Amino acid sequence: MTRVIRFGVIGCGLMGREFASSAARWLHLENTRARPEIVAVCDLNTSLTDWFSSNVPSVQQVTQDYHALLANPDVDAVYCAVPHNLHDTIYPDILAAGKHLLGEKPFGMDAAANARIQAAIDAHPKCFVRCSSELPYFPGAQKVIEFIRSGDLGEVIEVEAAFLHSSDLNPDKPINWKRMVDVNGAYGCMGDLGMHVLHVPLRLGWKPSSVSASLVNRFPTRPDGKGGTVASETWDNATITGHVSDHGGFPLVLKTWRVAPGNSNTWSIRVLGTRRSAMFSTKNPRQWQFMEYDGGAQIWQVEDLGFQSLFPAITGAIFEFGFPDALQQMWAAFVDELAGGDANGFHCVTPGEAADQHAILTAALQAGMTNTVQDVAYPI
Ligand SMILES: NC(=O)c1ccc[n+]([C@@H]2O[C@H](COP(=O)([O-])OP(=O)(O)OC[C@H]3O[C@@H](n4cnc5c(N)ncnc54)[C@H](O)[C@@H]3O)[C@@H](O)[C@H]2O)c1
Repeated sequence: MTRVIRFGVIGCGLMGREFASSAARWLHLENTRARPEIVAVCDLNTSLTDWFSSNVPSVQQVTQDYHALLANPDVDAVYCAVPHNLHDTIYPDILAAGKHLLGEKPFGMDAAANARIQAAIDAHPKCFVRCSSELPYFPGAQKVIEFIRSGDLGEVIEVEAAFLHSSDLNPDKPINWKRMVDVNGAYGCMGDLGMHVLHVPLRLGWKPSSVSASLVNRFPTRPDGKGGTVASETWDNATITGHVSDHGGFPLVLKTWRVAPGNSNTWSIRVLGTRRSAMFSTKNPRQWQFMEYDGGAQIWQVEDLGFQSLFPAITGAIFEFGFPDALQQMWAAFVDELAGGDANGFHCVTPGEAADQHAILTAALQAGMTNTVQDVAYPI
């Protein structure tokens, strides 16, 4: 019989409910080692916990106090999706309660907060811990990763990883916590989107030794939602250029933009090499592109993909794959690894990768604010 992992959810907002959807349709996946069951939920906002009570029959505990959820012996693992300033308080408490953790990015609002989380991880080695990042689970992204791993790229010319949003182009969009430095963190858009763009480069071993960064706060004020105007302090857009010394040395360009005209939620990765190149963007979610060059014609090939997912599913291979599917695949990777598997070869972001992200973003913030090139100080 499939093993059941009993989950508590702390933070029932946007992402908490996405997990509920992934778990509710676990039957979509074939031959999984284990399945998640949400037994406890916690949020300060009771309308959100009411949503869980109405829609998730397995929920037995509803609370506004996350300590009560952590005291529940029926909870094996916790998904925590709360604003960034709470990560370094709540994640260590989850580990101190002996629960496994999938924590949302950026895994602490800054490097100091991340170090506090890492200290708690080190103190509780029996707890299995990963950080959320779902977009590399698109089949097209997996194809790019497989292509890079399977052959010689030659000299790497450039790698660009981008996450582009456009909703902040609207100056009338009211402020929310992601535009507040004390809740989101001084990284601004980089804290919000940085782990998404770094997951694949870090997994492939491409760690920049130094970075420069162009930071933009295009809309320094926003409506407060109550008829007034408030300061919007966070960086809207960041373009980071890192220098990676492998493969003859190459630029790693990371774009984390919240003001990207025309892009609702475009995540992309593009790798250009002298022998082989590949790219994927969620703008064309079923296609990936690749080129192999041996001195002859330079021809990009485009392949239509369907539901050729890392974790096999009931959907036929010709049909489309989407955002909720990427999230479910990420959850499958987490649950599989927690249950002793290898996540079918592509595990969720590790705490070490999250810490490397912080080293890069800390250097990028400093570089962008002082218009300098900064060395990246990775944790030892
Ligand atoms: N992986 C992704 O694609 C993705 C997308 C969006 C957000 N996120 C991450 O998810 C996290 C949450 O973001 P969101 O967009 O879901 O935010 P959200 O504002 O929709 O939800 C956060 C929830 O946390 C609750 N909360 C705040 N303090 C709490 C406390 N002390 N105890 C219990 N609940 C509390 C809030 O009431 C709110 O409902 C962030 O770390 C964010 O970076 C990830």
